[in-house]
Amino acid sequence: MKIIFMAVMALLATVVLSAPGLAEKKPPISGEALFTEHCSPCHQDGGNIINPEKTLRKTDLVAHGITDKADIVDKMRHPGKGMTNWSAATLPDEDAEAIADYIIRTFK
Ligand code: HEC
Repeated sequence: MKIIFMAVMALLATVVLSAPGLAEKKPPISGEALFTEHCSPCHQDGGNIINPEKTLRKTDLVAHGITDKADIVDKMRHPGKGMTNWSAATLPDEDAEAIADYIIRTFK
């Protein structure tokens, strides 16, 4: 009896664990890849080829009132002179946030 019970439990566990989708997770969007594609043309290595005073380095960002991810996303949505406007249609919130996270982690 006991052995049958064990066998059934083992079978059940196998079925549950191998059920499709359960262990599957969407791969995280790479903020670095998105940054390289969209922002690097002007902000290579966190600099700024058009307006050298407005780099993505922390001291510059803070000096311009940009202190967190939300501020960076806000800048993408409402850029200043010379920067491309990234609307939610061209760059969804999820991607914009991944880029902002990458900027904060990378350029000190
Ligand atoms: C066509 C060139 C260009 C591209 C592409 C571009 N930027 Fe910019 N960026 C600029 C310019 C010019 C400024 C300065 C604008 C201003 O006065 O606010 C700027 C400013 C910024 C600032 C504020 C920096 C500071 O020190 O105040 C942030 C943050 C920023 N960009 C993020 C991004 C992100 C993120 C992307 C990619 C999604 C991007 N930019 C793409 C040209 C660009």
